[in-house]
Amino acid sequence: MSEFQPYFTNDGSVGLYSQDFDDIYHSASGALTEAYEKFIYPINWEVLLNHDDIKILDICYGIGYNTKSFLNFIFENKKKLINLKKNIKNKNLNNSIYYEAIHTNNNNTKKLYVYNDTIHTDNIFNKISVTAIDKDEILFELSPFIKTGVKNFKNNSDILHKHDINKYLNHRNKKFPKINDFINFQILTKIAQNCPKILKNPLILSILADKEYSKYFKSDFKGLLKYILTNRPNHNKLSILHNIYYRYLSYSYKRGLKRYKIQDFDFNIKIDDARNVIKEDKNLYNLIFLDAFTPSKCPCLWTYEFFKRLYEIMEQDGMLFTYSSSSQVRSAMIEAGFEIGNIYNNRLNKFQGTVAVKNKALINHPISEADFGLLKTRAGIFYRDENFTAQNEAIIAVHKTEVENSDRISSSQYLKARRKNEL
Ligand SMILES: C[S@@+](CC[C@H](N)C(=O)[O-])C[C@H]1O[C@@H](n2cnc3c(N)ncnc32)[C@H](O)[C@@H]1O
Repeated sequence: MSEFQPYFTNDGSVGLYSQDFDDIYHSASGALTEAYEKFIYPINWEVLLNHDDIKILDICYGIGYNTKSFLNFIFENKKKLINLKKNIKNKNLNNSIYYEAIHTNNNNTKKLYVYNDTIHTDNIFNKISVTAIDKDEILFELSPFIKTGVKNFKNNSDILHKHDINKYLNHRNKKFPKINDFINFQILTKIAQNCPKILKNPLILSILADKEYSKYFKSDFKGLLKYILTNRPNHNKLSILHNIYYRYLSYSYKRGLKRYKIQDFDFNIKIDDARNVIKEDKNLYNLIFLDAFTPSKCPCLWTYEFFKRLYEIMEQDGMLFTYSSSSQVRSAMIEAGFEIGNIYNNRLNKFQGTVAVKNKALINHPISEADFGLLKTRAGIFYRDENFTAQNEAIIAVHKTEVENSDRISSSQYLKARRKNEL
């Protein structure tokens, strides 16, 4: 990251701008709202809740909105999700009771009913393991400090004018979603435990100390970091951090402890090119969040080869979510073996983004015939990166030549012909 360039997005959460990629990290209409709408609300909870241990792959973690909004969602909806889980388990069991009742004698059936009575669970998942990847270590470290839910923000940052971001910021959201401090504390604790060296990066400390940026950071968390750095507690002993935190944010902490067990959460921090990480990864993921910069700026994370590897490391009933609905991304997914569908945004009543799965039955909003047709046009020619080592510029150059030499029709010719009912 060449420079830290924050501003407030429309829902009172912080957004960033990248000079290197000349791209915004987050939707200016609301960074946290976007995370919920594209990565969390579309999750098929009935499928996910069938699992007691889940694995999540957060590709391009940035300042962590996608992981944090997942944890926050289950934190805030614990009762509802536990009830849903009980219903799912009971439903599955009832099916087997029914099966047993008609196929075996009464004794066996009775046993099952006794078992049925004992079903209870006080946690949604036994264990949540998140693997979070980003090239930028500074963003990992800053992530627990970022403010959300700021209602009376003022944006006077230069970058808004320089990069024309102002035009997105006209209409403020009516809602100001917030990440609970308890979640930020878990993230900070895990960073202190698993990756203590990045806590000491002088650049991070200078960004956190800079008055110009103070409105974007949680000041109580800065105090916590100071304590960790000066007292150097043994980071393996989480209880020490718990006690410190207790003093800083006792209400939220107590509430959190009652509702959510800290040892349930594994946070694997990977500061690297996402291609290197997934190449070696032996896990099978239930959820994959793909939040790379736009394909034309960061094609290496949208190639056929990248999706092929993601297919290999996804569970049979896993789900991949991304904000992109571009034809070339979708055709690379299909070529890699995925079934694809739309993500429906309830608030805006429109489709936004793509869900990719192995099991077609998990698709709630299939893509239209017209959109499928587009995949066969030039717009559906995908990026390639056979050895997982190509630079973005080289991937773009090869793709450009392939498109120019293609005998496929263009997307506009296709749409025109469709309008005339020729196709
Ligand atoms: C759109 S932002 C992600 C925003 C993020 N999900 C959040 O909640 O803040 C894209 C991220 O991709 C990272 N990135 C760019 N190229 C990458 C690569 N090859 N491998 C891993 N991360 C990469 C950037 O550092 C940046 O943080």
